[in-house]
Amino acid sequence: MLGRGVECSRGSWMNWRDFWNGTHAIYVNERHGALHYDRIAKDIAALVQSDDDCVLDYGCGQAESADAVARRCAMLYLYDAAPKVQDRLRLRFGRDEKIVVLSTASLEAMSDHSLDLFVANSLIQYLSHAEFEELLDLARRKLKPTGRLVVADVIPADANAIDDAKALLGFGWQGGFFFAAALGLVSTFFSDYRKLRETIGLTRYAPQDIETLFAAHQFKAVRAPGNIGHNQARMMFIATPGA
Ligand SMILES: C[S@@+](CC[C@H](N)C(=O)[O-])C[C@H]1O[C@@H](n2cnc3c(N)ncnc32)[C@H](O)[C@@H]1O
Repeated sequence: MLGRGVECSRGSWMNWRDFWNGTHAIYVNERHGALHYDRIAKDIAALVQSDDDCVLDYGCGQAESADAVARRCAMLYLYDAAPKVQDRLRLRFGRDEKIVVLSTASLEAMSDHSLDLFVANSLIQYLSHAEFEELLDLARRKLKPTGRLVVADVIPADANAIDDAKALLGFGWQGGFFFAAALGLVSTFFSDYRKLRETIGLTRYAPQDIETLFAAHQFKAVRAPGNIGHNQARMMFIATPGA
């Protein structure tokens, strides 16, 4: 999926990887971005079970409030595939003793069975099934036998763009950026995001299908009652090693 592309507004070809590595207006304004990352950090921090835990936020994006997670654990690793995102993370968190920003090589080199919590939030919709399966194998390798893999913000098979729009407007209403959110929806309509979403698509899962994939990669997964982030129509799975 990531390899395919569409012609974007600047006339060049783009896939999801290029989209995230470029300049985009996925957050309707600064307040939306800040509230989004605060909420994500708060929800990830709530999943940390001990202050001795080593945690990886995989596909972390800007992770603007990552220090709130780092305060709750022994070490927080941040990894994002987009090189420009990695650069920004290094600028922001380079001096934080409890945060390590990983390159792809340092992620591979990380000792096996060293993580207590591996989080992939709002990521797997941008991956093909095969890429998600590679991610499951990576998590299986890096997690301790007692560790947990959390895959969240998974789009249900029967969801549509209207569910996402409603969730954004609700978040905007609560967060005091409702009108910016409404305007943002209009500009999304003309954006590269919508073009990619319509052409390449987003990967969705029926709960039983994703649970089968977890089991095929030696994880026992249960669907959690809530989700990380504001969109509670999406799904979160908590998986532990062992078929
Ligand atoms: C929707 S953003 C989610 C960011 C963050 N997890 C959050 O919840 O706000 C998706 C992120 O996943 C990253 N990404 C996409 N494919 C990836 C991959 N194969 N491995 C790691 N990161 C990836 C993108 O660069 C982007 O920053």
